[in-house]
Amino acid sequence: MPEPSTTRMRAYVVGQRSWTSLLWNAITSFDVSHGASIAEIPIPGINDSEVLVKVKAVAQNPTDFKHIDMVSPPNSIVGCDFAGVVDQVGANAPGNWKVGDRIAGVVHGGLHTDRGSYAQYLKAEGDLAWKIPDSVTDQQAATYGISAVTAMQGLYLNLDVPWPDENARSTPKELLVYAGSTGASLFAIQLAKLAGYRVVTTCSPHSFDLVKQYGADAAYDYHDDDTLAKIKAEFPNISGAFDGISAGQSTKICSQAIAGGRGKVITLGPGMKSSVKGVEVVSILMYTLLGRPFQLFAPLGPKWLTVPEDRAALVRFYAMLPSLISRGLRSPPTKVVDGGFDGLRPGMDLLKAGKISGQKLIVNLS
Ligand SMILES: NC(=O)c1ccc[n+]([C@@H]2O[C@H](COP(=O)([O-])OP(=O)(O)OC[C@H]3O[C@@H](n4cnc5c(N)ncnc54)[C@H](OP(=O)(O)O)[C@@H]3O)[C@@H](O)[C@H]2O)c1
Repeated sequence: MPEPSTTRMRAYVVGQRSWTSLLWNAITSFDVSHGASIAEIPIPGINDSEVLVKVKAVAQNPTDFKHIDMVSPPNSIVGCDFAGVVDQVGANAPGNWKVGDRIAGVVHGGLHTDRGSYAQYLKAEGDLAWKIPDSVTDQQAATYGISAVTAMQGLYLNLDVPWPDENARSTPKELLVYAGSTGASLFAIQLAKLAGYRVVTTCSPHSFDLVKQYGADAAYDYHDDDTLAKIKAEFPNISGAFDGISAGQSTKICSQAIAGGRGKVITLGPGMKSSVKGVEVVSILMYTLLGRPFQLFAPLGPKWLTVPEDRAALVRFYAMLPSLISRGLRSPPTKVVDGGFDGLRPGMDLLKAGKISGQKLIVNLS
């Protein structure tokens, strides 16, 4: 494909799909992200509060193929997580950005024709991004998108975990991070430890060393029928749980692990119910952090309004992220998928096939 002119760029864009194909994908989950392809489209224009970013590296998330397969309107640009370099700065863009600064963040990809990270350029609001320190590579920086901000949203906004600029718990509380080796959970474990919690997690035995390196105090195999009993025996005071996979029995097990049947479970999927009276199950969606109303499956699907407190929390988190990194907050292990734009689809195929464990897939786009 020829290099784009100054006004056009390469991007990974959703094609036209029929309602029947969308329904088929939703029911079968067989169609592996084949509803999108590389296209040449206009470079998005920015408004006064935005910056234009030349994208260097993107991290891949399950939501990318879920949007393609089930949610995205035609012509939307796929991809949420990014790291790159500032190319243009809006007249009043917050963040004191200069052309050439290294920048990373997250956008709601797969929903808009002019906003998404699987592209040579993207536009982002100046305060919904962060400055990458010299110690962090573009590939590592790209992982502080969906995974990191979902952990932040779950813990700081919903589980009453103190922010890093507040006092850590003087008497340690206990937190269950279910599915500790997922992207969001590796951040949740670290944020909970920064706040002084004892953290117990579940994962496959091959991930035990990994989750302990990221701070977990104990790890149990979620395939083992006795795991719940073992967790309750060693961690009898769990008051909250972050369900980092929200699949199968995970939310039920989280609910049952809460001490005394009083506490809260954060799930990442819709419609999860508590199986224990007195335990509240709260479903979160990280897109509410981005400060824009949105609708999935328009025009009939559910709508989300703006949540100003959520947006303010993301601004606060990204402003403090460089200092958190200097205090030891680490990206999950990364694995680069070769091929630039041609690597985007194979990466999503690997994610959808469940072949990625304890790693963020990265694609270098320039
Ligand atoms: N609501 C939101 O805003 C939001 C945000 C982020 C993610 N999510 C959703 O959360 C899910 C995870 O996303 P992710 O990007 O964090 O995933 P990921 O890192 O790609 O997940 C891979 C990991 O999942 C673990 N795993 C798979 N099945 C499991 C199970 N039944 N129990 C425990 N662990 C299991 C595997 O662990 P082992 O190899 O150790 O077995 C593997 O390390 C996806 O469905 C995603 O769409 C939602």
